[in-house]
Amino acid sequence: MNIAIILAAGKGSRFGSPKQFALIKNKPVISYSLEKFNRAPDVNRIIVVTAKSKISYVSQLAKRYRFHKISDVIAGGKERQDSVKAALQILPDLGYVTIHDAARPLFNKNLIEQGFRQVKKLKAVIPVLPIRDTIKKVKDDKVIKTIDRTQLYYVQTPQFFEIKLLKKVYQKAYQDNYYATDDANLFERVKYEVYTIDGNKQNIKITDKQDLEIIKNFL
Ligand code: CTP
Ligand code: MG
Repeated sequence: MNIAIILAAGKGSRFGSPKQFALIKNKPVISYSLEKFNRAPDVNRIIVVTAKSKISYVSQLAKRYRFHKISDVIAGGKERQDSVKAALQILPDLGYVTIHDAARPLFNKNLIEQGFRQVKKLKAVIPVLPIRDTIKKVKDDKVIKTIDRTQLYYVQTPQFFEIKLLKKVYQKAYQDNYYATDDANLFERVKYEVYTIDGNKQNIKITDKQDLEIIKNFL
């Protein structure tokens, strides 16, 4: 069983509104991701996590666009990690899962196939892109130093995990009251190996209004 968790419970404070529901060509941002997961032969079931007040809206979207693989639309939590945890509570103990930010509408659907193929042997697989710009540490408008970028990568979603292990590292994180900005970090901190695959250049996360314009130009 391969399950997709789509995270759409954020407030979009930097964007100014929940960006996952902003419109691109008359379609909400989240529907671009849902379409790809719904069509992917490797995905059996989709769980959408959203704000309590948006559950009925997302359920209506599922109907309108015939996203028949959506089995559940559930309420998220305060932090991204709390939203994932809410979904973990309704996952079976066996199988594989991919976790995706609804705010990334432009990932290439090949990632889904590649990710689920690799995760069966590697257990934790994430898409990354090498950083090409020079990276500097800056404080109070002054450069402190240049960071060696040869081992630095941007991290994207969808990320892929064996469900059994994911539940284990989540349990440990909550025991320790540990919060991270992505799921792979919870594997790293307990010394489980996380493997990388090539991400996509166009797979940018919408953070502010300008990103939405960049994405519109990509389409
Ligand atoms: N997310 C979530 N639950 C939260 C916070 C975030 O499901 N409590 C989701 C967002 O909807 C988004 C993804 O996680 O798809 C990445 O989060 P981020 O880009 O930080 O989105 P927001 O938290 O909405 O934006 P901001 O941090 O500017 O408020
Ligand atoms: Mg956030």
